Amino acid sequence: MSEPLKIAIAGLGTVGAGTVKIIQDQAETLNARAGRAITITAVSARDQSKDRGVDLKDIQWFSDAETMARDADADVVVELIGGSEGIAKAICETALGKARHVVTANKALLAHHGIELARMAEKSGVSVQYEAAVAGGIPIIKSLREGLAANDVNRISGILNGTSNYIMTRMREENLEFGTVLKDAQDLGYAETDPSFDIDGVDAAHKLAILASVAFGAELNFEAVHTEGIRHISLMDVQFADELGYRIKLLGIAARTGAGIEQRVHPCLVPKVAAIANVEYAFNAVEVECNFADTIVHVGPGAGAGPTASAVVADIIDIARGNATPVFGVPTSSLSAIPTVPMVQHHGAYYVRLMVVDRPGVFADIATILRDHEVSMESVLQRGRAPGEPVPLVMTMHETLEANMNTAFTEIAALDVVVGEPCVIRIELLPG
Ligand SMILES: NC(=O)c1ccc[n+]([C@@H]2O[C@H](COP(=O)([O-])OP(=O)(O)OC[C@H]3O[C@@H](n4cnc5c(N)ncnc54)[C@H](OP(=O)(O)O)[C@@H]3O)[C@@H](O)[C@H]2O)c1
Repeated sequence: MSEPLKIAIAGLGTVGAGTVKIIQDQAETLNARAGRAITITAVSARDQSKDRGVDLKDIQWFSDAETMARDADADVVVELIGGSEGIAKAICETALGKARHVVTANKALLAHHGIELARMAEKSGVSVQYEAAVAGGIPIIKSLREGLAANDVNRISGILNGTSNYIMTRMREENLEFGTVLKDAQDLGYAETDPSFDIDGVDAAHKLAILASVAFGAELNFEAVHTEGIRHISLMDVQFADELGYRIKLLGIAARTGAGIEQRVHPCLVPKVAAIANVEYAFNAVEVECNFADTIVHVGPGAGAGPTASAVVADIIDIARGNATPVFGVPTSSLSAIPTVPMVQHHGAYYVRLMVVDRPGVFADIATILRDHEVSMESVLQRGRAPGEPVPLVMTMHETLEANMNTAFTEIAALDVVVGEPCVIRIELLPG
């Protein structure tokens, strides 16, 4: 058998401690699969006195993680601290500069600095592995870089944030408003104290930018991701969507179009029969449409100690086996700069809910504005009558240009009978 592969782990929280546990509990299986022993030689976290439920004796403790990345007796540095800047970035750069492989679960770091890190890894002849950074336990990076390597990917779409999916599921199942579920999710540990990265779509956008780069062999471009979250979705919209045959999901979608690549994260109405519509609570899903393998749907837990650490350890096994895959599927010099399609050029169907004063002639005024901007209505739904009071008016639109939708609904929102902002949600007709 070859020499053991020596590992230094920075960060011993949910994922870090989970990684230590798998390496210790599964040692025999991992050794057999990797063809060599995997040995943790060093660890670093902030508080050495904390009980992390794993055995850390005989492992060197570093109070400074960057010093560990430079000086530890290790072939691989595993970064499990988090954050796009600061210590996490410093650890990865230091490790790559010393020609040590890097494994990370840090999507924020990769979304912002992935290309720089990939270039450093190429220069040093080592790898950067990050299966856990996207969709936790789902092996989507391996699927794209290896299993589907024969294909051109045309479109990739998914539920990439478990917290948002959990909130949307409970709103629908329990008829609760967004704020009520968010508060409960925070109390139960499903949402962070500061939930903005999850519910404003930023976390999903980090993951989508990584997926788009691997799927299309394109330069990673986080700034190009159009990002919206779920704060503005009300229970009323969830219920109307249900009545129309849809569920509301926060999706990340990257697609090739004639004009370039569209990258967007926003709430979507998806038909109830679509596979993704039935992925509920904190589960993630990634659907890949490609030219030979057709459509492949991956579903699984997107977070948590076990699933995420499982992906981290799979990356470590790959390194132990000597598998070397370019970080984003092709060498960085071959990544293409494909133009980004701005959201105003998006063609799609839409759901719109307005609050309008219940008064004769209102609908005719709205229909005139839609006609003037070439927006064609598919269906209208109005519930309840309350003369002189605001009532919800729900419409779905046939495929149209987003720029026309924007202009039409800016004009409609300015009508004196329209109260508050229209709620506009894009409809995605995903396959069942
Ligand atoms: N949790 C998940 O389910 C999940 C899923 C996918 C990806 N990820 C990613 O995995 C990474 C880790 O997440 P996590 O949930 O495990 O975080 P966590 O539970 O908050 O753990 C973070 C760890 O980093 C340590 N740390 C913080 N600052 C440090 C510093 N300056 N030097 C050394 N250690 C430091 C902390 O030390 P102390 O313990 O001493 O405070 C803690 O052990 C993040 O990039 C996250 O986005 C997490």
